[in-house]
Formats: sequence, structure tokens, C-alpha cells
Amino acid sequence: MSANREKPFRFEKADITVSRTKDEFRVQLRGPVIDFKLKKPDIKLDDDTRFILSWLNSPLKTGAVSPSGKDLARAMAEAVDLAIPGDVVELGPGTGPVTEALLAHGVAPERLVLIEYNPDFCKLLRERFPGVRVVEGDAYRMSKTLAGVTAGPLCAVVSSLPLMTRPDPDCIALLDDALAMLSRNGPFVQFTYGPTSPVPVKGRTIRARGGKRIWKNLPPARVWTYRAG
Ligand SMILES: C[S@@+](CC[C@H](N)C(=O)[O-])C[C@H]1O[C@@H](n2cnc3c(N)ncnc32)[C@H](O)[C@@H]1O
Repeated sequence: MSANREKPFRFEKADITVSRTKDEFRVQLRGPVIDFKLKKPDIKLDDDTRFILSWLNSPLKTGAVSPSGKDLARAMAEAVDLAIPGDVVELGPGTGPVTEALLAHGVAPERLVLIEYNPDFCKLLRERFPGVRVVEGDAYRMSKTLAGVTAGPLCAVVSSLPLMTRPDPDCIALLDDALAMLSRNGPFVQFTYGPTSPVPVKGRTIRARGGKRIWKNLPPARVWTYRAG
């Protein structure tokens, strides 16, 4: 799906159609329960709208209906120790709130590599963060996707992937893949809305640590870090 302000688009899913032409922006809920039209619209797609459209298109991959808040993004970035050499890899950057926090934390743009699945988000990220490498591809195949882009050892891997939509073996394989590319003390950083570790680590030699719940985020979330044991 392509949905930017210059191009007309039409998006249909189950009971909802969202469309835009030169003269009209329209949301229809079938029934018709609602048929909402704006003539000659001047609608800018803000990040919340981009996210909702992405979620409607692919709820399991997008995994959230709005971008992460500033407090959560900052907590993710603060888990990165800039003194550890190597690149910082971000998985599932979306519209870039965590990317922005990583740059504000002091990660140089040329040290940052983003892996994102959604081509519309990739285009936006390239425009928004010049100098940062953006790879359109599958973050669950991290080392393959990064071939020719960056080699380890990495400083940190920072992930906002919606792990709860994937089976445990996929999450464990992702963590193992990341730890194999990371420096000895480099963290794999992951947020979750859930009450427990988003990656099962029981019985494994991995140092896992859950941070405080960030109540200001909607929904409230917690940042976990994982290091090789
Ligand atoms: C919960 S959103 C987080 C977005 C952003 N980092 C934030 O915190 O607001 C998950 C992001 O992961 C991306 N994603 C999901 N599966 C992916 C995959 N296999 N490879 C790369 N990106 C993926 C989605 O497109 C979406 O942008």
C-alpha cells in the first residue's frame, strides 16, 4: 500500500475503505454506517495516520496502532553504550521515533543501520534520516539481511519488532542471531507491552534484565536487555 499525500490511493480491508483522490478524502464503513468525505482536502499524513494505515494493511507485522512515545524511545536508546565499538542496528523502526532517540542519544548517523519491512516506511526513513543506512528486508533473518551492509561485532541491536505475533522458536532464533553478531557486552534491546520477557530465556546462559514499566507510553511498556551470559 502506498499512502502519501501526493498520490491518490484506495485502501480496502474487511469493513473499511479509505481512499484519496485529487478532490476527495473518504472513509467508508460498510453498511453504510459511516461515509465520511472531505472535498478538496489538504490532509497531511502524520505518523499516527501512517501507522494506522500500516496496521490496517498488516496488523500482525505492524504490531501496534501508533508509534512509540518519547519516553519509551528514550529508554530504548539509553540502553545503548556508545563506548562499545561497532554499528548499532535497529529492527522495525517504523516511522522512526526510536531512530530519533538513538541519534539524540549520540549514535552517529553513519553508525546506524535500520531494517524495516514496509517499503513506505523505508522511503520515509531515508528522507527523514540522511546518512543512516536503511535496509528494506526481513529483520527475523537479521544476519542474512545485513550481508554486505555491516559485519559484526555490533555495538547494539535495538528492536521494536512485535515479537508476540511470532512463535517462541522464531524469537529465540532472532536473539541467537543477534547475540552472534554482537560484541561480548553489546545488548539486544527489546520493548514489550506484556508482563514477562518477550523472549523465553529460562535455562539459557543469557543475562536478561527487564526495566521499569513506562506508564506514560500508550500502552505502557517495558524495555528488556539481553546479553550473552
Ligand atoms: C510495533 S512497530 C514499531 C515501530 C517503531 N519502532 C515504534 O516504536 O513506533 C513494528 C515495526 O516493525 C516492522 N516489522 C514487522 N515485521 C518486520 C520484519 N520481519 N522485518 C522488518 N521489519 C518488520 C513493522 O513494519 C513496524 O514498522
